[in-house]
Amino acid sequence: MLDWNEEKAAKTTALNPEGEAHPNPILTAPETSADSQGAATGLEDVEMGASRIRVDDKKIINCHADLNQLVPFKYKWAWEKYLDGCANHWMPNEINMAKDVATWKDPNGLTDDERDIIKRSLGFFSTADSLVANNLVLAVYRHLTNPECRQYLLRQAFEEALHTHAYQYCIESLGLDEAEVFNMYREIPSIHDKAAWALPYTQSLADPNFQTGSVEDNQRFLRDMIAFYVVFEGIFFYVGFVQLLSFGRRNKMTGISEQIQYIMRDESMHMNFGIDVINQIKIENPGTWTDEFQEEIAQMIREATELEIRYAHDTMPRGVLGLNANMFNEYLKFIANRRCQQIGIAEQYPGATNPFPWMSEMMDLKKEKNFFETRVIEYQAGGTLSWD
Ligand SMILES: [Fe+2]
Ligand SMILES: [Fe+2]
Repeated sequence: MLDWNEEKAAKTTALNPEGEAHPNPILTAPETSADSQGAATGLEDVEMGASRIRVDDKKIINCHADLNQLVPFKYKWAWEKYLDGCANHWMPNEINMAKDVATWKDPNGLTDDERDIIKRSLGFFSTADSLVANNLVLAVYRHLTNPECRQYLLRQAFEEALHTHAYQYCIESLGLDEAEVFNMYREIPSIHDKAAWALPYTQSLADPNFQTGSVEDNQRFLRDMIAFYVVFEGIFFYVGFVQLLSFGRRNKMTGISEQIQYIMRDESMHMNFGIDVINQIKIENPGTWTDEFQEEIAQMIREATELEIRYAHDTMPRGVLGLNANMFNEYLKFIANRRCQQIGIAEQYPGATNPFPWMSEMMDLKKEKNFFETRVIEYQAGGTLSWD
């Protein structure tokens, strides 16, 4: 049994279910970040007789200690999130889509506006999750030089695969035109604009010549982390989440709604992990989080909020499902304020309120535990496999 109280252990980060990170009470002595030798990758030659890893050798970026040794843990919040992710395991094909299929095929089952929202949401999410996964594997992973964080990234990468799987499963179940849906990010401006906004951040990090180390390069890494974890997973997903969950609240398309509920819970954890990493980098690299850089990040968040508001208006030219686009002006500002607060930036939209208080219930892990207990599970257990 692990003892989290041991003296050398770091305190963990507590999170509430809607994803507010409490202050991250960490950890090591501040250190300047200039680094000319390049950080460890985990693929170095194994050095016989090298001294053993100590907790203090570990760093979230720019680490030189062996990355193949998971323990001793330094960032227990990362390991705990890995365990939580595993405890929340689910599979898209465990969710029964029969009622959704019947509703979709019934000419009177949904209005045209409702059908458009389903298609647009699947269009956005089906490529967005692949983009997030590619950022993770091809850009973030190499530079995050800590084994317990990488362990979480590997879990997250699998969850992103599950999300893409879930969207494909919905698209296939409803018999949608796959080419139409998967090409929306190249054909529908408001979907394209969100992906196009995020891509330069990951392209910058995926450059094989890029290394963290200097203040400027550490900031470049932080920009990518904020673009993907705070903006993409923390703002750009939320119009789609509210829209698709609104179907379920009206007892329509309950299969898709249930998929989204699982996905949103995963995404909330991804975002919280990213926020912990961002806050840890700030602590370990004190010259990085300058006033000027904070203003740049605030500007990024404002831009992204505007884009998501535009997406809300584009997908909802008229009121539908008890929602209208103007409600999202307020909601997205409220969400943006929370994201700013979580990474230590001043709120950009003071006084914004939440028109969808029910969204926090949707993320309530206790409730979702019941949700798990009631679902239909048909695991393909080992006993059902035939070796003949
Ligand atoms: Fe995802
Ligand atoms: Fe995610």
